[in-house]
Amino acid sequence: MVSNPPSSSPSVAVVTGAARRVGREIALSLAERGLAIVVHHGTSAVEAEVLVHQIRSQGGTAVSVSADLRDPRVAAMTVFEAAAAVGPVSVLINSAAVFQDRALPWLDVYHCNLHLNVNLLAPVFMTQQFQKQLGEGEFGHVINLLDWRALRPGGDHLIYTASKAALVSVTRSLAQQLAPHILVNGIAPGAILPPEDRSSWHQQRAIESIPLKRTGSPRDVCAAIRFLLDSQFITGEVIHVTGGEEL
Ligand SMILES: NC(=O)c1ccc[n+]([C@@H]2O[C@H](COP(=O)([O-])OP(=O)(O)OC[C@H]3O[C@@H](n4cnc5c(N)ncnc54)[C@H](OP(=O)(O)O)[C@@H]3O)[C@@H](O)[C@H]2O)c1
Repeated sequence: MVSNPPSSSPSVAVVTGAARRVGREIALSLAERGLAIVVHHGTSAVEAEVLVHQIRSQGGTAVSVSADLRDPRVAAMTVFEAAAAVGPVSVLINSAAVFQDRALPWLDVYHCNLHLNVNLLAPVFMTQQFQKQLGEGEFGHVINLLDWRALRPGGDHLIYTASKAALVSVTRSLAQQLAPHILVNGIAPGAILPPEDRSSWHQQRAIESIPLKRTGSPRDVCAAIRFLLDSQFITGEVIHVTGGEEL
């Protein structure tokens, strides 16, 4: 028997890939809730510093930390060493990812390792460090950014989709392994922000395959994250934020 989790808001959140795009909006949204933010970034050091400055100028607390997720175990240790200076982390959002398409004839081991390390193993080792630093009996949330294609693969993005499908599996397994104190859930976005080199792609999908006939925004992802953080009896769940595209 485990006592009910405390109703007070958690205090420190690690957000991976937080310098830009969806991760940035997640970090800002959590800062608005009063969480101190550990802004993890890869190459976007300037954008990370701008975000840290913005959060601090709004009265919040933030630090940035650079770590290359292609070396996921070392990266996770680096991120949580930086986080320790801020305080115990009770929220981990694994948002960083790579998203590349490579058809079978052009597949190479570098492409496979890149996706598996960044999209799958980095969340696993981040969660390992997260669990390690969480005090005995303390409650925490891990939220993995997935993709609706993980549960309904198409013919494209072969290894990306496989990496996200494996992360669904990890989400459900860790939800059981880390219960009752750590809740592990996933969010499967659809057309939220198009890749920077394919800006019209999502609009086309909105017309052709999204029942709600529009694209989403990072705010929709943030709303789902807030819902999960407010929920104390949901674990191992995958919430689709897709406008119905997976149906
Ligand atoms: N955008 C969408 O519509 C959509 C749809 C479905 C699923 N998702 C999922 O939602 C999440 C956020 O989406 P997004 O579009 O914002 O992601 P994104 O722009 O593709 O990537 C987010 C960040 O991941 C970081 N990253 C990539 N490789 C890294 C490495 N080796 N080391 C450290 N950091 C690395 C990058 O940080 P730096 O810039 O600092 O290098 C990048 O800014 C992702 O998990 C994505 O798969 C998004």
